[in-house]
Amino acid sequence: MTDTAWQQELPDSSATPTPAPTPSERPPSTRTHLVGLLLGAEEDWPTAFEALLALVGPITTDDGVTHHLTSERLTIEPFDLRQPVRTELVIDRLAHWYYHPREWLKKAALMNDTYLLNSPFTFQSMEKHSAYVALMRLGLKVPQTWLVPYKNPVDNVRWAYTSAKYNRPFDLKAIANELGYPMYMKPFDGGGWRGVSRIDDERDLIKAYDDSGEMLMHLQATVEYDHFARALSIGPETMVMDFRPEQPMHNRYAVTHDFLTPSAGRQTAAISRIVNAMFGWEFNSCEMLVKGDDVYPIDYANACPDVAVTSLHYYFPWAIKALVRWSAYCLVTGRQGPMDLEMRRYFDVADRDDLSDEEKLDAYLAIADEYFDTAAYWAWCERHLPHLDAAVLEWVQSDAFTHLLRSTVVTTYPAHERDRFMAHFGGLIALWVKDEKVRLGVA
Ligand SMILES: Nc1ncnc2c1ncn2[C@@H]1O[C@H](COP(=O)(O)OP(=O)(O)OP(=O)(O)O)[C@@H](O)[C@H]1O
Ligand SMILES: [Mg+2]
Repeated sequence: MTDTAWQQELPDSSATPTPAPTPSERPPSTRTHLVGLLLGAEEDWPTAFEALLALVGPITTDDGVTHHLTSERLTIEPFDLRQPVRTELVIDRLAHWYYHPREWLKKAALMNDTYLLNSPFTFQSMEKHSAYVALMRLGLKVPQTWLVPYKNPVDNVRWAYTSAKYNRPFDLKAIANELGYPMYMKPFDGGGWRGVSRIDDERDLIKAYDDSGEMLMHLQATVEYDHFARALSIGPETMVMDFRPEQPMHNRYAVTHDFLTPSAGRQTAAISRIVNAMFGWEFNSCEMLVKGDDVYPIDYANACPDVAVTSLHYYFPWAIKALVRWSAYCLVTGRQGPMDLEMRRYFDVADRDDLSDEEKLDAYLAIADEYFDTAAYWAWCERHLPHLDAAVLEWVQSDAFTHLLRSTVVTTYPAHERDRFMAHFGGLIALWVKDEKVRLGVA
């Protein structure tokens, strides 16, 4: 490398203008877009995704270009940082814990504009904490929450000195008294109930804090709720589901429609889309506790939301269809992955005192819909994917789907429970088929 290699190459003003392309040089009239799947232990939804993507078929856009969509399960291997990336969009399920693919995703986004669901650049705020404070700032009803320092020393040679000099002694019981019993203690970055405990009295409080060890904990006021609403959002699509956290996994999502008041229903769907647009999350589930018309968001940052057929059952066809639709839309329209957050726009609304809470929610939602191109997305789906609903309905009734369900049940449950679960999920899927036929007017 010479010492001027960093200098920008200047255009050569003496060069002749580039001639117009001859017909053989014109851009190709077909384009193939590759979706990469970066997977952990799941087989069910990737198999469904591959099957539904194949149902999309070629899409011809107004410019005469015919687009084909394909997918590939990505493997993990050494890479040259300058190596071009073939994958135009990646659905990632690994990067929240596996750093090699995480770094590959960042390189793909920065160097090749690969579209990511979700982008690791958004992970820094993908604990509960950032989303709590952001939604508090928007004026939403996040329950009162405190963050307390680590119980155990942090593994760093500088900790002893820093802590002796700057860690203020604090009164855990006084904080608890302010929040009131019962309350919840849970990691600021939790998931899967790791380290979550309900605290009924001082004894529980001391024990839970002692047990927290190296985890950084929130203490949160309890919300007495009528319904736990779990909203799964994929791009601009959201399904608000009646979730029962106390039930075993296969029974957590109840199939109940209209379980919320119209106002709470509107708010839950809006909050999920708003928080996702704010942080650039495009495949996420959002948990809210609902009492009457009041909605209390408590957990809304999942880099890898649950989409197993054995959890979602009835909602599974919708979820995979939404993933396929949003991927197709992003690829064919050339949507660019978001690199910048626009939080200031939300805060400018939050800071206005001439708007009611409801008007603010509408204004946040308008920014979120701008982020997701919601109106354009639905118009595009109507124009280019009119056949997809019927094709998915047919696929869910096919042997291929039964095989997928059976193999998932076989890997999830012990032999003596499999028939029972096949009947359980088969019944719920049959219910979806029935409702979908009514919705599509083919009953
Ligand atoms: N403030 C609260 N009020 C009432 N219940 C709560 C509160 N916070 C948490 N819970 C209960 O504790 C459960 C776990 O809490 P939370 O969702 O915050 O943890 P998590 O580790 O993310 O769990 P998951 O992965 O199941 O979402 C919730 O499903 C809910 O039943
Ligand atoms: Mg949760």
